[in-house]
Amino acid sequence: MSKMIIEGGRSLNGEVSVHGSKNAVLPILAATVLNGSRNIIHNCPRIKDVFSSIEILKGLGCGIVWEGNTLTVDSASISTQFIPETLMREMRSSIIFLGAMIARHRKVTISMPGGCELGPRPIDLHLKAFRQLGITVEESHGYINCEVGDICGDDIHLDFPSVGATENIMLVAALAKGVTTITNAAKEPEIADLQSYLNKMGARISGAGTAAITIEGVPALGEVEHTVIPDRIVAATYLCATAIAGGKVSVTNVVPTHIQSIISALKDCGCRIRQDGANTLTVEALGRPLPIDYIRTLPYPGFPTDAQSPVMSVLSIADGTSIVTENMFENRFKHVTELNRMGADIVVDGRIAVVKGVKRLSGAKTTATDLRGAAALIIAGLSADGITEVDGLCHLDRGYEGFDTGLKSLGAEIKRVD
Ligand code: UD1
Repeated sequence: MSKMIIEGGRSLNGEVSVHGSKNAVLPILAATVLNGSRNIIHNCPRIKDVFSSIEILKGLGCGIVWEGNTLTVDSASISTQFIPETLMREMRSSIIFLGAMIARHRKVTISMPGGCELGPRPIDLHLKAFRQLGITVEESHGYINCEVGDICGDDIHLDFPSVGATENIMLVAALAKGVTTITNAAKEPEIADLQSYLNKMGARISGAGTAAITIEGVPALGEVEHTVIPDRIVAATYLCATAIAGGKVSVTNVVPTHIQSIISALKDCGCRIRQDGANTLTVEALGRPLPIDYIRTLPYPGFPTDAQSPVMSVLSIADGTSIVTENMFENRFKHVTELNRMGADIVVDGRIAVVKGVKRLSGAKTTATDLRGAAALIIAGLSADGITEVDGLCHLDRGYEGFDTGLKSLGAEIKRVD
């Protein structure tokens, strides 16, 4: 089994670049089925979730070509409307293919997504919206069958600003008859990137990035070339890595406005963070982090749930007590047990974690059970006494390309053993 071995105690210094956004590219990969044509995607990260999406696209009959971090998807010859369970199970967010396939082929059968390491992941909001757009949705024997004649635009209000539901509705409505509006839409930057991708194909969408999105359906979409936005959570992880290890690091290829809540939290921890030009942030961490009275995860632009675990690693060595509330996913504190194995003092009660900062963590053998938890344990190892081992790297690989080489280039003593 692969694991990361980290010898703690070295500060980080230098410059590191952030790769393309996982959460932006996944809906974009689903969107490639819409045009029946060529899709050229630059800044595409080589991560496991992208590979899983590619397997789905290949299974549907799409042509795939990689060249560095540019991916070309040709969706001209899609030959099936069926996505088998094995491919759906690889990645929970493959539910995003549902919207794209209905829009293009008016019929699709996919396996029901199960829960995931973060707890149950319901899709009721997605299915309710599809039904509102005239789509017949039947759930039977673990599969969802969707069929529609004409997709009819409508006004959809989301009871919760779900990222996946907002994206799925945009994909379906792009090829609908008439106008669809989404109110209480999710406002994440990845949704604005999907809008930008779809509009380059010829879609007519406005408002993404706000709570009100309007989609004027068009009859067909064409060829597209697009550069994916930088991954704000990877950027946040490098900032947290510096906050915990100490040092001075410039993180390049980042959009500072996408991570305002994280910058603000790390400033509260005592880090100095400066913007150098449009896409570089320089973080300087001197001494022990300060605690943060209260952090709670919220939909964007609130503090992202995906950054909760890396920031908790920083708070675990803060000079005082912090309180973290996880509002988005019920099982997102699994890294706590492992941080406590490293000497952290964190108590969880339901959705609240009380983090009493300790002076130093101590290296230990740990196991990651989810994507961001894996990153959190690795960066915790940077500051721990002695050697930390992190296994369960299959989770890290879902969303980080070359995380060990990035940290190594900054001076970390880190080795991946496969
Ligand atoms: C996306 C991100 C994920 C991030 C999450 C929240 C991708 C590929 N993944 O996931 O990294 O952590 O946003 O920012 O972009 N919910 C329902 N019913 C639904 C849909 C969602 O109850 O039909 C609930 C979920 O259980 C969860 C909350 O809404 O508690 C947020 O989910 P959602 O915004 O849909 O997250 P994802 O799109 O799955």
